[in-house]
Amino acid sequence: MRVLILGAGGLGSVLGGYLANTGVDVTLVGRPAHTEAITRDGLRITGRRGDLVITDNLTAVDQTAKATGHFDYLVLAVKGKDTAQALAEADGLRDVVSSALSVQNTVEKDATLAGWLGPDRVIGASTIEGGTLLEPGLVRNHLTAEVTAYFGELDGSCSARVDDLTTAFTNAGLPAMAVGNIEQVEWEKLAQIALAAAWSVTALGAIPGASVFEGMEVPEGAMYFVALAKDLLAVYRAKGYEPMNFFAPLSRLKELDALPTDEAIKFVIGQGKVMREKGNTGHPSMYEDVVRGRKTEVDFMLGPYVAAAEELAMDVPTLRVAYQIIKTVDGFLA
Ligand SMILES: NC(=O)c1ccc[n+]([C@@H]2O[C@H](COP(=O)([O-])OP(=O)(O)OC[C@H]3O[C@@H](n4cnc5c(N)ncnc54)[C@H](OP(=O)(O)O)[C@@H]3O)[C@@H](O)[C@H]2O)c1
Repeated sequence: MRVLILGAGGLGSVLGGYLANTGVDVTLVGRPAHTEAITRDGLRITGRRGDLVITDNLTAVDQTAKATGHFDYLVLAVKGKDTAQALAEADGLRDVVSSALSVQNTVEKDATLAGWLGPDRVIGASTIEGGTLLEPGLVRNHLTAEVTAYFGELDGSCSARVDDLTTAFTNAGLPAMAVGNIEQVEWEKLAQIALAAAWSVTALGAIPGASVFEGMEVPEGAMYFVALAKDLLAVYRAKGYEPMNFFAPLSRLKELDALPTDEAIKFVIGQGKVMREKGNTGHPSMYEDVVRGRKTEVDFMLGPYVAAAEELAMDVPTLRVAYQIIKTVDGFLA
């Protein structure tokens, strides 16, 4: 199997690195400092699965034009704002790529890829595996789940290519599942990440190191968390979906949906306490983007839910205000 990762930053390098480590032939396309460090010293991964240096089965290039041969899968892993540019640069790959999928946190990505490569060559995908680029050549793998990646045909059918991809990820230590409802998984993952991202940016501001979990223990923080969750879940349900906690145990959308507001607030405070006591210190990437002064993925992570609420004529005041605040902040970021 040959895989090309378009956008080898935090997540793309972690996925590509683990796949290469188990014999998949991987080409990473990323920025020059990172790809040069990998070519020189190998890709270093630190974090949940220990420390690894990957040199075999791995090619790193700084331009898609330098990627050679045929690829079974192209995995799009740039941030949403960079998609158009990355796909334009990758124009020459369309004849040498069989199928494409995106691990980005958004939902319109499949239509974007279908427009680039043709709908029959696109696979739906969603993952919660965590990756952060620490320095050129070094990434941290900070998050995983019992099933960390889902793949599926957009029409819900079974296919050999989805099964092959699922097997390759699972063999690489990234437990994956082939599903017939990938669109639902993508929308639910988006609700989960939109909640965490929007809450942390608007509740914690841009205070470096402010603890997500301590914030959840503040009663007002928990009340706001629940109001935001209930708005997102109302839209999710109105689209015809039922919360499934696909990324359990990290996902708690089922509980937030089922519990009455007062109970849900106590639940969030309890979750904050448990996570803090376990020593969790992570932040959603949108919070990190704001702290670092980088443009966020607000239109990709919150935009689809805001647009769906508008289409469905739904009143989601907390979601709308969170979106308006982040859009305002985003306007000041480069
Ligand atoms: N990281 C996670 O844990 C995680 C988990 C699930 C889903 N996701 C989603 O996955 C996507 C990627 O996230 P990430 O955190 O991995 O982002 P990231 O660390 O910023 O990685 C993207 C990388 O692609 C590079 N890039 C952008 N345009 C390029 C181009 N035209 N050619 C070559 N390289 C290019 C970026 O360089 P510059 O920084 O110089 O632009 C960056 O190094 C996002 O949509 C995110 O929401 C992330």
